[in-house]
Amino acid sequence: MSDHLHLAVQNLILKTMKKLAASLAVIVFAGALTSAGTAGGSGKAIFEQNKCTKCHSIESQGLQREGKAPEGGTKPPDLSDVGSRHKSDWIQKWLLKEEEQHGKKHIKKFGGSDDELKTLATWLGGLKKK
Ligand code: HEC
Repeated sequence: MSDHLHLAVQNLILKTMKKLAASLAVIVFAGALTSAGTAGGSGKAIFEQNKCTKCHSIESQGLQREGKAPEGGTKPPDLSDVGSRHKSDWIQKWLLKEEEQHGKKHIKKFGGSDDELKTLATWLGGLKKK
């Protein structure tokens, strides 16, 4: 191999490796973003972000109630078993104050997006005691 050709080949290899490294970095970065996105968007995360734990515990998920139970009226139930009592469709409407039980609507209207509401209600609807 002539020196010139040798150099050209070396250059080519170097360029290819740089390109590979760059696309690898992009892939890793995108992957990190995606997994962070799903973690932030889980039903549990939405539950915590919307301060549902001020009133509700979900013992089965390791979530403790943070605030004091409101005085008088119906105590906010632990939601470990909420999926056995209600379907996720009902929970969605309940959280929008479009459904009532015990003659009352929920104390708080959900403030997040439709997508978040859906994820949250689906997650809650799946919580059943074994
Ligand atoms: C200020 C207190 C309070 C906050 C905050 C709160 N809740 Fe409630 N929640 C209650 C009370 C009280 C009840 C019981 C109402 C009843 O059964 O009449 C209830 C009932 C429910 C029920 C029905 C449970 C069952 O077994 O029938 C679900 C589901 C629920 N809440 C979900 C949520 C979610 C999700 C959030 C956060 C977005 C939230 N709650 C925030 C007080 C609260």
